[in-house]
Parts: sequence; C-alpha cells; structure tokens
Amino acid sequence: MARQRTLDNAMGDLFEQETQSRWLAPGALHLPGGLDSLGPGSAWLLAWIGAVSSQAPFRHLRTPGGQSMSVAMTNAGPCGWVSDRRGYRYSPLDPLSQQPWPPLPRELLTLASDAAQAAGFADFEPDACLINRYLPGARMSLHQDRDEASFAHPIVSVSLGLAAEFLLGGLTRGDTVQRQTLRSGDLLVLGGEARLRFHGVAPVKAGAEGELRFNLTLRRAQ
Ligand code: SIN
Ligand code: FE2
Repeated sequence: MARQRTLDNAMGDLFEQETQSRWLAPGALHLPGGLDSLGPGSAWLLAWIGAVSSQAPFRHLRTPGGQSMSVAMTNAGPCGWVSDRRGYRYSPLDPLSQQPWPPLPRELLTLASDAAQAAGFADFEPDACLINRYLPGARMSLHQDRDEASFAHPIVSVSLGLAAEFLLGGLTRGDTVQRQTLRSGDLLVLGGEARLRFHGVAPVKAGAEGELRFNLTLRRAQ
C-alpha cells in the first residue's frame, strides 16, 4: 500500500515536471508533451494518420468564398468537418468517396477524454477528429469553432511534427491575441469560457522537427 502510494506520488511528480501544464486563459489548458504522457505517443499517431489518409486522402478544401485553404485536411470518426461553396458543416461521409470517414480508435478517445479531464471537463466523448496538415508557409486565419451542435464540450488539439505559433484571441475578432508555441506531442484543451475564443495558426516555418506539421482536433460535433 505505502509502496504503491509512493509510486503514485512519484508518477504524479514526473507527470507535473514533464508536462508543466499551463492555463493560457480560463478554460484553455496547454499540456506540453501530453501525447506521450497521457496517450499512445507520436510514432503510433503518425502511423495512424498514414492509414487514415490512405482511405480518406488529405485535400485542400475551399472556403465558402471559393478560396483554397493552405492547410490540407482529412477526418476520422462518425462526423467529419468539411467546407465548400455551400458552407462549413459536419458530414458523416467523405465527399470524395461517399464513404464513412475512417473510425476513431479507442486510444485517441481515451487521450481526448483524459486531456479534457485534466482541464476539468468530465465525460468528453468526441465523435469527430479533424486532421490538419501544414507544410511550411501554411497558416490558419483567426476563427471560432462553431459548427458543433453544443459548445458545452471542449475541443482537444494534438500537435505533431514542426512547431507552430498558436494564436489565441478573445471572444471578439479584434481582441488581443496571445501566442503559444505548440511543439510535437503537445496537447491543448479549449473549453468552457475559452470554447468560443478566436484562434488560428501563424504561417508554419521550416524546422528541424520534420517536413510538416499535423494537428488533430477532437470534437463533439453532434
Ligand atoms: C484548428 O483550429 O482547427 C487548428 C489549430 C491548430 O492547427 O493548432
Ligand atoms: Fe479551430
């Protein structure tokens, strides 16, 4: 018993040291290295992204205004986020193949719910995983995630590969924006008061961590 408690404490301390989780704002928790400490690790995730994209390839969606996005996207899970001339929405089928998106594995559901729990959001069960692929120069302009049926659920983001400057604004577009570097293996939870904050990604720069950046966002769409 005593030995187990000591071990638990030691693990807890290790987790604290490794992750140094930090609130960027109420409801916005950054968990550096959380992919390895809470989840299946980056090698597993990269292999999974490869398998998903062989079934549902990365594509550059068009905004409703007709512009091609610099970030390439695909999805996994019961719902996938899509954009075209008709607008932004979640769809159960990949419009390229008319087939369901590849399934969301248990490992990712657990990672998302554990990260959400660490930020104080219990019982998070995502039904959508948007996978973004950034080559150097790709960026994501400031936006709110508001195509989901309820904003009561958080969004959990997982970053892999090249580091990026994440931009976290306020609840209105003109609010001051803070920058947070997201490195490979970092998690970020946006929920509660932060759920509708504007956010985006500054143009990704080439670097030593790889050729590109992936970001997964686990969401509850329905
Ligand atoms: C997003 O807002 O969907 C992506 C955020 C990121 O790439 O870090
Ligand atoms: Fe977003």
